[in-house]
Amino acid sequence: MSEHPLNLALDISLTVNGERVTERVEVRKTLVDFLREDLGLTGSHVGCEHGVCGACTVRVNGEIVRGCLMLAVQCDGATVETIEGLSDSGEVADLQAAFEQRNALQCGYCTPGMIATAQDLLARGIVPSRDAIREHLSGNYCRCTGYHAIVDAVEAVGQARAGGKK
Ligand code: FES
Ligand code: FES
Repeated sequence: MSEHPLNLALDISLTVNGERVTERVEVRKTLVDFLREDLGLTGSHVGCEHGVCGACTVRVNGEIVRGCLMLAVQCDGATVETIEGLSDSGEVADLQAAFEQRNALQCGYCTPGMIATAQDLLARGIVPSRDAIREHLSGNYCRCTGYHAIVDAVEAVGQARAGGKK
């Protein structure tokens, strides 16, 4: 009897947080499961598993994506950055500090996705309005904070990066 197609595995090569990775992966495995289970990068979280909550947000080829909606095999040849990479490079150090200072996290489950999504907005080089911040983060759910402190933190970092200009 031939093997079921969903049990097939393929070899993929990609760059994850600056390091070249070559792994054999089941074709049905999501990117976030691959990152967590195969590479031990557990900073990306799994919440809804169907593209709603944003906990699994990572960057692929410079764009934020939902790691639960992308298959690992789709990332063959891609450049993937997780919260571990964004953190180690210092790219989001100011956002992380602002979240801590303003109590913009409680359980922290949503936080890696929030930070990655906020960075996606702030990297555009504009100082976003509170409405724009809320809109951009609207696909990232937080069960704890009520969002106000998160918007405060992102707004403060946006203003600080612009040298205090509104
Ligand atoms: S786990 Fe991916 S969007 Fe919720
Ligand atoms: S801090 Fe708990 S889900 Fe956001």
